[in-house]
Amino acid sequence: MTIERAGVVGSGLMGSGIAEVLARAGIDVVVRDISDDAIAAGRARIEKSLGRGVERGKLSAEERDAAVARLHYTVDLADFADRQLVIEAASENEEIKKSIFAELDTVVTDPQAILASNTSSMPIIRFARSTGRPERVLGIHFFNPAPVQPLVELVVSELTDPQVVETIDTFATDVLGKVTIRAQDRPGFVVNALLIPFLFSAIRMVESGQATKEDVDTGMVNGCAHPMGPIALADRVGLDTCLFVGQSIYEETGDPAAKPPVLLSRMVDAGLLGTKSGRGFYDYSS
Ligand code: 3HC
Repeated sequence: MTIERAGVVGSGLMGSGIAEVLARAGIDVVVRDISDDAIAAGRARIEKSLGRGVERGKLSAEERDAAVARLHYTVDLADFADRQLVIEAASENEEIKKSIFAELDTVVTDPQAILASNTSSMPIIRFARSTGRPERVLGIHFFNPAPVQPLVELVVSELTDPQVVETIDTFATDVLGKVTIRAQDRPGFVVNALLIPFLFSAIRMVESGQATKEDVDTGMVNGCAHPMGPIALADRVGLDTCLFVGQSIYEETGDPAAKPPVLLSRMVDAGLLGTKSGRGFYDYSS
């Protein structure tokens, strides 16, 4: 199966990054969001990132223009009828995601099409079972920023057809140029199961006054060669996303390391979501 036409549901931080990766790899992409405003913001994010890629010498101006031309935007999921691969990257709300998968099942005509979720931690099987083709559903989990981070986690549910996993593995490596790993459909998969407890430990350290956020970040950048410290990374991932992922891992495993720190919950209550809202642990307004 050669994938030439893909769809991305959601044009937020991850959806726009995934759409950019696909378009840069030569794939025709339809991006769907729920309003014209959301689409305008998603399109602006993609085009800004493509521009940054040109500035950094990662692609030529011609390649940027070709990628822009491969991206189409819609508010109507019915425009996904001819897609061979759809990646859902809507907000981390199980009911919303389930209803998207149920709708995709009725809209996407090719029975061989592959339906995927970029969820950070929710069980893929629940989305698979919202469709009449659970064997063609898997998790394709990208990392932020998607155009920069090489990794893609392939999340295999109890019902995913192994051939679907092979097809996507080949596509992700050979066409998208990504590095893949496979994970069972378990809370946090591989990376978030390790990362979230680490980020929460760092937040607890700040919460308890053991160290300042700056010292926590400086410590991990300069002591362990992390590209950015855990507090800055939590801001970048989105504090709301960190909270959802932690809640979802904690709910299923009861692992105290994944229990969201109170400080994190309060910051999300306050609308301090990190870089995307202009302020989280750090201020990004200027
Ligand atoms: N397109 C293509 N390449 C780009 C680009 C773009 N739009 N923007 C930047 N780049 C490239 C740069 O050219 C550079 O490449 P080089 O190393 O070959 O020169 C590289 O990306 C780094 O870019 P910058 O120099 O602009 O920025 P920094 O060096 O400050 O790095 C960062 C920024 C990439 C965000 C880095 O700090 C990083 O990797 N941080 C960690 C991010 C991380 O851990 N992400 C995972 C989060 S967890 C997740 O997403 C899962 C979810 O489910 C929660």
